[in-house]
Parts: sequence; C-alpha cells; structure tokens
Amino acid sequence: MKKKLVKILNKKFNYPITCLTAYSPSIAKILDGNVDIVLIGDSLGTTLYGMKNSQSVTLNMMKIHGLAVTNNVNKSITVIDMPYKTYENKLQALKNAKTLLNFTKAKMIKLEINRSNLPIVKYLSSKNLNVVAHIGVTPQSFVNFKKIKAVGRTKKESQNLIKLALNAEKAGAKAILLECITEETAKKITSSISLPTIGIGSSKYCDGQVLVFDDLIKIDKKQHYPKFVKNYLNFDELASNAVKKFCTDVRQKKFPSKKYSYQ
Ligand code: KIV
Repeated sequence: MKKKLVKILNKKFNYPITCLTAYSPSIAKILDGNVDIVLIGDSLGTTLYGMKNSQSVTLNMMKIHGLAVTNNVNKSITVIDMPYKTYENKLQALKNAKTLLNFTKAKMIKLEINRSNLPIVKYLSSKNLNVVAHIGVTPQSFVNFKKIKAVGRTKKESQNLIKLALNAEKAGAKAILLECITEETAKKITSSISLPTIGIGSSKYCDGQVLVFDDLIKIDKKQHYPKFVKNYLNFDELASNAVKKFCTDVRQKKFPSKKYSYQ
C-alpha cells in the first residue's frame, strides 16, 4: 500500500478522516487536497441522474465518472463504488473491481456488505485490492429510499453489526464505512476494530466523516435531506439568484455589454 494511504488509514495518526463525494472534474478539483478521501459514490445515480435508487447505476457509469474524477485528483485518496449486482460472486467481483480500478486508477474499491458476501471481501483483499466495506444501511438494498431508517438500536442489531465489522476486518478490508448507525453502536464498532471507521449519519464516534458533496452545498432545493445532512452552503439560492440576474440583464439588454463582445 502507498505511504499516503497507510497514513490516512492508520488509526494511530489519530486525526479525523474527511471524505466527500465527487462525480465530475470541477468538484474533484475543489475537493483535491482539502479532503483526505474523494469518493466516487454510486449515489451519482440519484444525485446526478435523478434515478429513484442506486440499483440502475452501471459499471460503465462508474467508469466514466470515476475517470473524470481521478484525472483531477492528485493529493487525496480516491475510492470508487462497485455498483449493484456487479459483485455477486468472487470471479465476477474480481473482474469488475479490476476493470473499475484499472480504468479509473482509483486507489480503493467500496462494496456494500452483509454476512453473506464477506467471502468476496476476503477474495478481493487476497488479490491485493484495497477494499472499503460499507455496512449498516446499504442503499443498494433499497428500492425506496424513504424506507431507510437508522440501524443498531436493538441489542441484536448492534451485536450483528459489530460482528460484521470484525469479520470485515478479518476478511482484509482496509476501512469500514458506517451508514445510519446509532451513536452507541457506531461507538462500539469503532472501539472494537483496529480499522478506521468513516461514518455517514453514524455519530461523532467514527474515525472520520463522509457526506455527499451535493447535499453539503444544498444544490437541490426540492430534495428532502436526511437528518444527518448539514447544508454548509445554500447553493440553490445563490445559483437561482445568478440565473435571475442573467435573465434580467438579457431582457434589459444589459448583457452582453462591450466587455463581453468581440470588437
Ligand atoms: O454512494 C455514496 O455516495 C455513498 C455515500 C452515501 C457514503 O456510498
């Protein structure tokens, strides 16, 4: 593993890991060097393509957006999602993971995992691929995102999640992404494993935090954001104002002025 990756993933360095998603060159350039990890997430299906869920995201979409991002990331580590049904058995998973990693040159691959696909994590890790295991709420299992709710509340759920994280570590994963896991369970998982945990909606007790960039800047005013999303910017408002000003300028024949015209 490269030095930078080892450093980021080593809990001993003990600084909170930052991670945001990117699907395009412009966003990749904004994130590069500012966050530790840039995630080319399959959330691009819903966020960028307006799909109802992430089940229609294809390997080809991930390849195209992945390359557009990695071409513009030099300082941060890149992680790319394996889309729905592209890792159903070991050989299929290896073939598709290699295709994605070779084509995009992303450094790590992320899989949504459960008890039954742990052997795939083990197999990919044994082939020297850097796997991030995504546990808790795994969006690829949901057709309707409105049905998503936090997990880890009951003792049984909590024990199962801790066991899954421990098994993912044993299987060779390099980091665990925790989605929508209750505070207490996320805390227990983080203290039970030596791998770093990166949380989304999974409390401050994770070793790092990830958000979808488009949610962070609130690009979609009509979207209902989950409780865990903090909007750091009202991009929708800023952009709407810019559009209104452009329309006014054109209608009042103020744009394009001489400054924006060729003489
Ligand atoms: O696809 C994605 O963007 C993700 C984040 C929600 C963590 O997996």
